[in-house]
Amino acid sequence: MQGIANTGVFITGGCGDIGQAVAKRFLAAGARVVLADMRPAAQGRAAAKALDPQRAAYVRCDVTRAASLDRAFAAALKFLGRLDTAICNAGTVTNQPFVDVTEEAWHRVLGVNLTGSFLTAQRAARLMLKNPRRGTARRGTILFTGSWVQHMPWPQGSSYCASKGGQQMLAKIIAQELAPHGITAAIVAPGMVYAGLTKKIYDRDRHFAKLVDKVVPLLRMSTAEEVAGSFLFLASDDGAYITGTTLLVDGGATLVRRE
Ligand SMILES: NC(=O)c1ccc[n+]([C@@H]2O[C@H](COP(=O)([O-])OP(=O)(O)OC[C@H]3O[C@@H](n4cnc5c(N)ncnc54)[C@H](O)[C@@H]3O)[C@@H](O)[C@H]2O)c1
Repeated sequence: MQGIANTGVFITGGCGDIGQAVAKRFLAAGARVVLADMRPAAQGRAAAKALDPQRAAYVRCDVTRAASLDRAFAAALKFLGRLDTAICNAGTVTNQPFVDVTEEAWHRVLGVNLTGSFLTAQRAARLMLKNPRRGTARRGTILFTGSWVQHMPWPQGSSYCASKGGQQMLAKIIAQELAPHGITAAIVAPGMVYAGLTKKIYDRDRHFAKLVDKVVPLLRMSTAEEVAGSFLFLASDDGAYITGTTLLVDGGATLVRRE
């Protein structure tokens, strides 16, 4: 895809399953990539090295803390040269009946998925505003990993669905405010991905697995790789006029099945 080679990409949750698949696609298209993640340094460095020892790097960061992100962006900028694409992808999930959701679990999920996206996107935008404006070319792109449940309630998903619904509105506001400055913002919303926590729950919980198999019209979960290309598309020249919207990659999960 055009417009990705030699760009600088910052991915939170970059050591996770979807983050790794996305990083691979950007690296294959010629970008430099920073994996920003709270996983231990040894693990993060090994992940970056395995992807590409020259053009991928790891920085440790906790997206719930502004100071941690400030340090991560400063280190990333040294490695990348400039920031073109930021992907707010770090995420966590808790499934609990609404009446049992604890205050701690609520704050943890909202903290990573919503506050973490806000803090990451705000820092990214401030850096992108320093990129020179060249004609109609973008100064930068801020992408979010949403979820099909940002539109649809999922049983026992109050904290997770609320966090992704909030993130969707956040992305629209960012898109609206920053479009005149040449910065776009959009969401890739996967459905059920055989990745991360969903994979672990699917493998251990037969009830969940049955529900997933019934809900997805394509009758299977996606792979992380099947989701990754959409991020590349939105950051490429082909996605330059797309802002404030969501690209659903959900195998039809949001279509109501009536049989
Ligand atoms: N797996 C799915 O089915 C699915 C579906 C839709 C959306 N998503 C979203 O995709 C994104 C990536 O999920 P995944 O499936 O790859 O899971 P994953 O657990 O493999 O990856 C998540 C990554 O985020 C990192 N992380 C968590 N808290 C962090 C913090 N405070 N600061 C920095 N990093 C932090 C973790 O260390 C991990 O590497 C999440 O936003 C998730 O909500 C996943």
